Amino acid sequence: MIKPAARSVSIIGCGFVADLYMRSLTAHADVAVTQVYDHDPERLRAFCDHWGLNRANSLPRFLKNLPRGSLVLNLTNPDAHYEITRACLEAGLHVYSEKPLAMDMAQALELHDLAAQNDVQLASAPCSALGEAAQTLSYAIRNDIAGTPRLIYAELDDGFIPQAPYADWKSDSGAPWPARDEFTVGCTAEHAGYYLTWLIATFGAVRRVVAASAEVVADKEASGTPDFSTATLFFESGMVARLTCSIVASHDHRLRVFGDKGVLQVKQAWDNDAAVTFHRRFTLRRRLMEMPFGKRVRLGHDTHPKVERWGAAAMNFALGPVEMLDALEEGRPCRLSSDFALHLNEVTLAIQTAGDAGCAQDMTTRCEAMEPMPWAQ
Ligand SMILES: NC(=O)c1ccc[n+]([C@@H]2O[C@H](COP(=O)([O-])OP(=O)(O)OC[C@H]3O[C@@H](n4cnc5c(N)ncnc54)[C@H](O)[C@@H]3O)[C@@H](O)[C@H]2O)c1
Repeated sequence: MIKPAARSVSIIGCGFVADLYMRSLTAHADVAVTQVYDHDPERLRAFCDHWGLNRANSLPRFLKNLPRGSLVLNLTNPDAHYEITRACLEAGLHVYSEKPLAMDMAQALELHDLAAQNDVQLASAPCSALGEAAQTLSYAIRNDIAGTPRLIYAELDDGFIPQAPYADWKSDSGAPWPARDEFTVGCTAEHAGYYLTWLIATFGAVRRVVAASAEVVADKEASGTPDFSTATLFFESGMVARLTCSIVASHDHRLRVFGDKGVLQVKQAWDNDAAVTFHRRFTLRRRLMEMPFGKRVRLGHDTHPKVERWGAAAMNFALGPVEMLDALEEGRPCRLSSDFALHLNEVTLAIQTAGDAGCAQDMTTRCEAMEPMPWAQ
């Protein structure tokens, strides 16, 4: 058995996203990586050589090496999430899983209950709700900067990805962007969470999802999964939000909160440093207008380490694992709880599977809104 450093994680799955985690972890010098496993030996070797990490050559060896209570990051492909997370929870390990928690609700529920039975923590990505942009937006809403929020529009359109030069996209240690897997899993299961987490963190659980989804570009590398979805979310707290996901419409990651005094806006979902702006509403002569250039909302405190890159790589992927380590050390509930992960999974799958018949579905799971980070209170 390995004796892990006081604050450490181990990693299963070292493909494209694992390099983004490693870059993020370099911004948290106090967190070590104990060991790594991937069932592709060549990928495991390339990743461990690149980052100078210890490798385990099988899953049983990986699990045996770790004392109970260690934290594992499950960065495998979505169809392996359930099996890998279950093996780790059964071994008494805490798990932070990439999204989605599981590809169906029965499996997600089983993992949620298994974590509780084994008294270990279970959380899932994305963790950008813990980041500066999301926390600033939540702060602005709590402090009534735009007045009472009445409606939210959130867009997660990524551009026409089937025509992007993704064959050239490689991670730091040489993993190709997994286009086939991304298209098969679908942009809703992959991306809806980027804004769902912000909304659930701020407004609490979604009561009802009314949604539709479709595949509009079937002639791409892998087909059979919706590449467009739109949902109206009715929150228990009364908030109503519309969320759109696609890998077809022009890139648009705006989130707008329409309030009584004006609009709060963020233009980037993946950049923790993205500006949150307030656009005051006013009347000029007989016209109703909104300030075209907003006033930036600032927290006025140091927040968290940033990863100075662009696109998805501008996100600090380590914020979730670090929150879990902090919660374990401080003996408090983790902001990314297993209830939060389960609820996120249910809402996401309801939207993804809505199809052309549409869904109007009451959610069966619940979670609390998230406690703000200490620097955003
Ligand atoms: N690609 C991105 O930009 C991106 C961004 C954020 C999150 N994610 C998420 O990260 C996760 C992984 O995506 P990725 O892009 O790194 O995929 P990837 O295919 O590049 O890497 C996944 C790795 O997991 C390994 N793996 C799969 N099943 C395994 C198993 N049973 N045991 C051990 N290893 C196994 C594969 O061999 C591969 O090396 C997904 O959940 C995805 O949604 C991806």
